[in-house]
Amino acid sequence: MDKNIRIMETEDGSHTLLNIAMNETYHSRHGALQESEYVFIEQGLYYWMSHHQASPQIQIMEVGMGTGLNAILTVREAMQHLGLHFYYTTLEPYPIEEETAEKLNYLRFLPKIYTIQAKFRELHACEWEKDVPLLENFTLLKRKQKLESMETVPCCYDLIYFDAFAPNKQAELWTQEILEKIAEMMKPSGVFVTYSAKGQLKRDLKSLGLEVETLPGPPGKAEMVRAVKPSL
Ligand SMILES: C[S@@+](CC[C@H](N)C(=O)[O-])C[C@H]1O[C@@H](n2cnc3c(N)ncnc32)[C@H](O)[C@@H]1O
Repeated sequence: MDKNIRIMETEDGSHTLLNIAMNETYHSRHGALQESEYVFIEQGLYYWMSHHQASPQIQIMEVGMGTGLNAILTVREAMQHLGLHFYYTTLEPYPIEEETAEKLNYLRFLPKIYTIQAKFRELHACEWEKDVPLLENFTLLKRKQKLESMETVPCCYDLIYFDAFAPNKQAELWTQEILEKIAEMMKPSGVFVTYSAKGQLKRDLKSLGLEVETLPGPPGKAEMVRAVKPSL
């Protein structure tokens, strides 16, 4: 296993990873699963769905695939929303080893059905830079790439899971320039969610014309941010 990565249990019993050199965890220490469920699925995906009930597809971009927790929770949602096709692009310049992914305890918290358990393994093992049909209504594209060097595809994404390391650990991913790139890639009425609620982040998103909401955070965290791109 990568010597710089250690598996840790968070307060809800689910695992996260600790990047030892950065002294930074991949999720909230108060509960990895609770954080992902609340910030990305409930306040991101469910919010988007409630405003786009007639849409046959959704384009999601995740910044930082990491453990694959957000991805597998979204796969679980796809299994329950068969009329919606999920296109899920995830960026990860430093993929975790499959051996590490195998040790994560997320399967314990997922429905006890063979398919989803197999899909967690498949999402780590599948090829990069290629559309992979993980389910009939879920297409995964893993890109081994930094957000900074990704080409800007205007108005492409309905939903952004912005799950970079914290601004004080990886400031280069929270600059006005990067946020501008993200805003450009969002479709009108597209939704951006992140666990951070830093004042500077909110000011930057507002200055880019997004409608910014400060929401209560997941357990153990006061606030989070959701921003919506105005419709045309
Ligand atoms: C907070 S963790 C993400 C947690 C992840 N979403 C999960 O469910 O486990 C941040 C992730 O961003 C990745 N990352 C680091 N630098 C990046 C960059 N420049 N662009 C995109 N992702 C990056 C890290 O390797 C790490 O996996």
